[in-house]
Amino acid sequence: MPDLYSNLHLIIRWLHVIAGITWIGHLYFFNFVNVPLQGSLDDAAKKAVNPQLMPRALWWFRWGAMVTFLAGLSLFVLTYFYTPGVGFGATSLLIDTMGLTHRAMWILFGMLLGTIMWFNVWFIIWPTQKRLLTGKVPADQIPAARKKALLTSRINTYLSGPMLFGMLAPAHYGAMSTPALLIALGLGLLAIWASIRSSSNVGKLA
Ligand code: HEM
Repeated sequence: MPDLYSNLHLIIRWLHVIAGITWIGHLYFFNFVNVPLQGSLDDAAKKAVNPQLMPRALWWFRWGAMVTFLAGLSLFVLTYFYTPGVGFGATSLLIDTMGLTHRAMWILFGMLLGTIMWFNVWFIIWPTQKRLLTGKVPADQIPAARKKALLTSRINTYLSGPMLFGMLAPAHYGAMSTPALLIALGLGLLAIWASIRSSSNVGKLA
């Protein structure tokens, strides 16, 4: 039977990933499904659908982001700043005789992108959407507010590709190098670009 630390670690890791799926799943729904869908709805259909759809989807989206972020920080402390039986302090996974480990470099890269995304959700996308949905944006400022929310959401969608390499590489890859980082960035951004590009054509029954 594994010890308390290992069990807690696994549960927080699981919480982090299941909340991450909830968050990024909604982000992809907004960007790959809802943006093209909205373009094909007339005003009457939008008025019927959006007041029901958007508050629900935005609730799972923002709280998914918050739980992912908090569980991710806990995971960071448990993995890199705690040793069972010893206590808190930098572990050998964070620093070795050569300085910052490659594993730590990968997770710091992923966490930087993930934290920017979390900030965008809570301090730009959600406040802007809330003001739009509650009719608090003056009519002449609505297009600009919509543009701001969409652009920030698009930035988050692009960041999610490389960010996930930063989450997976620490435990499952390890070695950090400039080519590996460039491939993570290139492949991550390319996958999102291709998905956004094809999203307007998906949906036709074929
Ligand atoms: C928001 C900021 C985020 C922070 C601070 C964060 C932090 C972390 C940390 C510290 C780890 C453990 C790394 C290690 O074992 O060395 C991790 C792993 C992981 N994270 Fe995140 N993360 C964030 C966002 C996300 C998001 C949005 C997802 C999307 C699903 C995600 C998915 C994962 C996955 C799949 C793992 C690997 C689990 C494993 O293989 O053991 N993370 N994250």
